[in-house]
Amino acid sequence: MKRTFLLFGLAMLTLTSFSRIDSDKKYIKKTTIEVQSNDGEKLIAKSDCVGCHKLDKKLIGPAYLDIAKKYPNTDKNINSLADKVIKGGSGVWGTMPMSAHSSLKKEDAKSMVKYILSLKK
Ligand code: HEC
Repeated sequence: MKRTFLLFGLAMLTLTSFSRIDSDKKYIKKTTIEVQSNDGEKLIAKSDCVGCHKLDKKLIGPAYLDIAKKYPNTDKNINSLADKVIKGGSGVWGTMPMSAHSSLKKEDAKSMVKYILSLKK
């Protein structure tokens, strides 16, 4: 009697710990996917872009939605716009220049631009 009780207890323990591992795994998978798709958005939130750009309104720079409307979401555009963010410049939207972001890594600038260009409905 004592033994069956012990075995039963062991079985329950293994069962519960297995199901816990399983749900942990699911949780980890979900969070990594979320981080990837929001990478550019997070980088932008951490940078000074917010001081000059807004999602749907022109501030000093054009609205992200207007940028997304102007440029199709292609590798070529992502590449050249990432360069522009790093080097800064003016003349496309008006005379107001965008400041340079020379400490920004190319890969990070690309994720930011990818996020902006993905905003198009
Ligand atoms: C000092 C203000 C300022 C800051 C800070 C700023 N921008 Fe800009 N941004 C501008 C202006 C002004 C333009 C329009 C430039 C032009 O007319 O060529 C612009 C244009 C852009 C464009 C479109 C470029 C083109 O050639 O059409 C992108 C993409 C962009 N900004 C992304 C960013 C990102 C990402 C950041 C943050 C890392 C950022 N900007 C920070 C002012 C700013």
